Amino acid sequence: MPPRKIIIDTDPGQDDAVAILLAFASPEEIEVLGITAVAGNVPLELTAKNARIVCELANHTHIPVYAGCDRPLKRDLVTAEHVHGKTGLDGPVLPDPEMTLADGHAVDFIIDTLRAHEPGTVTLCPLGPLMNIATAFQKAPDIVDRVQEIVLMGGAYFEVGNITPTAEFNIYVDPEAADIVFKSGAPIVVMPLDVTHDALVTPHRNDAFRALNSKVGHAVAEMTDFFERFDKEKYGSEGAPLHDPCVTAYLIRPDLFSGRHVNVQIETQSELTMGMTVADWWRVTDRPPNAMFMNDVDADGFFDLLTERLARL
Ligand code: RIB
Ligand code: CA
Repeated sequence: MPPRKIIIDTDPGQDDAVAILLAFASPEEIEVLGITAVAGNVPLELTAKNARIVCELANHTHIPVYAGCDRPLKRDLVTAEHVHGKTGLDGPVLPDPEMTLADGHAVDFIIDTLRAHEPGTVTLCPLGPLMNIATAFQKAPDIVDRVQEIVLMGGAYFEVGNITPTAEFNIYVDPEAADIVFKSGAPIVVMPLDVTHDALVTPHRNDAFRALNSKVGHAVAEMTDFFERFDKEKYGSEGAPLHDPCVTAYLIRPDLFSGRHVNVQIETQSELTMGMTVADWWRVTDRPPNAMFMNDVDADGFFDLLTERLARL
């Protein structure tokens, strides 16, 4: 089976960085066509810089990195420095990137790439707010049917919200963009907090990253040392939830995950529940299913895969 061609749309973020590294370490299963940066955890200038830092960390400077949308479609940008630090990649000391941004806007790269490849052969992997994807779909509606699959990190149902009582950050930053994506008709696989909060980097698991004794292993361990304090304080959890790497791991080992194909709609009206992913998990309505909403992961299998693959870099 040839590797799956993907575009990673991302707002690095320590967990985004690990997701990108896992993709780079898995060429048998994944061919990264390009990385599109979006504003989210930190402003666009930093997410576009951090994406390049990660490419250089993994010696993958041949991968083009494009800057995308610097704000939501209709709202002010909300960022998450309280989780990811001022730089968005706090933890390890990593050099500023030497590689430059690719020419052109991320949205145009997404459009051009989907038009240049056979329909059904390019997967979009959003790891942050959905402005780039939604803008591409609005600007070029013809590309929606060409998408093989959208595998995204976002949303929450049983786990409820992490930025408000009802909303997960990626969806909350731009609910209108998420609404466009979830109504697009493209096949969607969702990795919500219901799954990612089980992918916790316990001290034992982080020691395994450190024991790789490589530039990448130490960087990931130091990112996690920083990133985990928010969730440990808030949830009393055993470590940082590796949200975004669940997307990449799914592309490599879908069997590690399970969920249900249900209807998911996005709250865009009520300020109280703005950005909530309303999943009809128990199918109590006749709303047509539009997303594979994951709710379980084999956490040990996930970390075994991640550690084994990071050892390759
Ligand atoms: O809510 C978690 C998500 O928000 C992750 O993608 C994290 O990187 C932030 O973007
Ligand atoms: Ca992210």
